Amino acid sequence: MLDVGCGTGRLAEHIADIVGPSGRVVGIDPLPERIAIAGSRARANLAFAVGDARALDGSATASVDVVVLNAVFHWLPEKAGPLGSFFRILRSGGRLGMTTWPPGRRTALQEVRLQVLGEPPFVDHVRPPDGVLFRVDTDRMYALLEESGFSDIRIELRPVEQVFPDAEAAIRYSEASSFGNFVGHLPAELGTRARDEIRRRLQDRIGDQPVVRREQRMVVLARKPA
Ligand SMILES: C[S@@+](CC[C@H](N)C(=O)[O-])C[C@H]1O[C@@H](n2cnc3c(N)ncnc32)[C@H](O)[C@@H]1O
Repeated sequence: MLDVGCGTGRLAEHIADIVGPSGRVVGIDPLPERIAIAGSRARANLAFAVGDARALDGSATASVDVVVLNAVFHWLPEKAGPLGSFFRILRSGGRLGMTTWPPGRRTALQEVRLQVLGEPPFVDHVRPPDGVLFRVDTDRMYALLEESGFSDIRIELRPVEQVFPDAEAAIRYSEASSFGNFVGHLPAELGTRARDEIRRRLQDRIGDQPVVRREQRMVVLARKPA
């Protein structure tokens, strides 16, 4: 099975335990730093490599039973190309499993971040497109999967609540999971200033309450027809 956007490899390692010695799990991620960490988990049935969902041309057709993407699909600006690749490399009857975030209300942290980055001097620096822009809703997800040839499509929204004790904890989580995009487009000194300002405003907003993030997680299963 192939774990696309495997990050530091924790999920791939868990899946390798499930598939056992007769199975084989490969995790790919575009960030060499993450693959370096994941690599320490490698063993006989588990391997990692730098790779990208948008560049799977080198992967053999009909070569895997399962493709998974956990919290990755919303980072892909274009969907049809990667979905076509997943379909091609899956064997007949193979399965695709994904979790992702659908569009929704911005969290307090996202609002404060956009506000701060939209003000001088930070606004003078070109920001990469906001990952929130690449989210798709369940109808669009269904259509994309159908157009790519998948069948047995199941899509569920499951409520998720994350509680962070303070603004700093919420920011640290967001930095770690936002692919270097939190304030990564700013020169180092400005990035530190922006981060401090975001933390201060978020903490002002919440007072001594925890930061609570409520979202719906989209869970997707689909199959390549046998
Ligand atoms: C929120 S992390 C999830 C990591 C891992 N799947 C997990 O559940 O722990 C999102 C991951 O998607 C990866 N990613 C971003 N763009 C990608 C792309 N075009 N192809 C593959 N992975 C990508 C990032 O490098 C990051 O590791």
